Amino acid sequence: MSEPNNLPRHVSFIMDGNGRWACKRGLDRIDGHREGAESVRECMKFAVEKGIRYISFFAFSEENWERPAEEVEGLMHLMFQAIKKETPTMLEYGIRFRVIGDMNRLGDSLRKEIDECCKVTDKENCGTDMIIFLSYSGKWDIIQAFNMFMADSFRKGISGNPPVLDAGILSGYLSTSGIPDPDLLIRTSGEQRISNFMLWQTAYTEYYFTETLWPDFRKNDFARALEVYAKRDRRFGKLK
Ligand code: FPP
Repeated sequence: MSEPNNLPRHVSFIMDGNGRWACKRGLDRIDGHREGAESVRECMKFAVEKGIRYISFFAFSEENWERPAEEVEGLMHLMFQAIKKETPTMLEYGIRFRVIGDMNRLGDSLRKEIDECCKVTDKENCGTDMIIFLSYSGKWDIIQAFNMFMADSFRKGISGNPPVLDAGILSGYLSTSGIPDPDLLIRTSGEQRISNFMLWQTAYTEYYFTETLWPDFRKNDFARALEVYAKRDRRFGKLK
């Protein structure tokens, strides 16, 4: 396998197909999510080995709260366990852990575990930032950014003209402020849609879709996606 030299700075994943993976094996949906957590672990390590600066995972959308309570509780518990278990690995691999989303909707114990992991992995010289999008949606992000902009504008005191937004100002209020937009977005399981993920930030992201279900997506699949990405011609709407 040839080594891709055109490495993305930020790779993001929409991890899809856990339920179908479990169903095909006559298992519970949570077993698919559990195996999916192994894929997260493998991709996280592979990203560090490759020198990818930012890696992010869409773990739970705002819409996912509408799933049956049993699955939601199972996922939250799995998240708690995975963060606790993987914190030493993150330290070993020089990973800085971050979570983005509506934290108000999470339970106290999960929030505490997230805070702890973020605190201990928050070092100056981190090699890779790992970002988990939890209770997140792209529309939520844009709306909270707009509301914060308005609140700041009113705080500063508006006289005469209404406040004017531009792309740079809005980006600064998004929950991803300071994180470069994804260069590559990988979605598994054959679905080809954005599903209310980073709507603003993916304006010029390269998409990679694969039929592979998320629990089967391991480092060889990741390496293949990087190879495909390396051959893409990115022009950002301009001419070369
Ligand atoms: C989508 O598959 C996947 C999810 C909603 C959850 C993803 C979460 C994990 C893999 C848990 C571990 C994560 C971390 C960050 C520790 P689906 O249930 O929609 O699959 P289906 O379309 O086949 O039903």
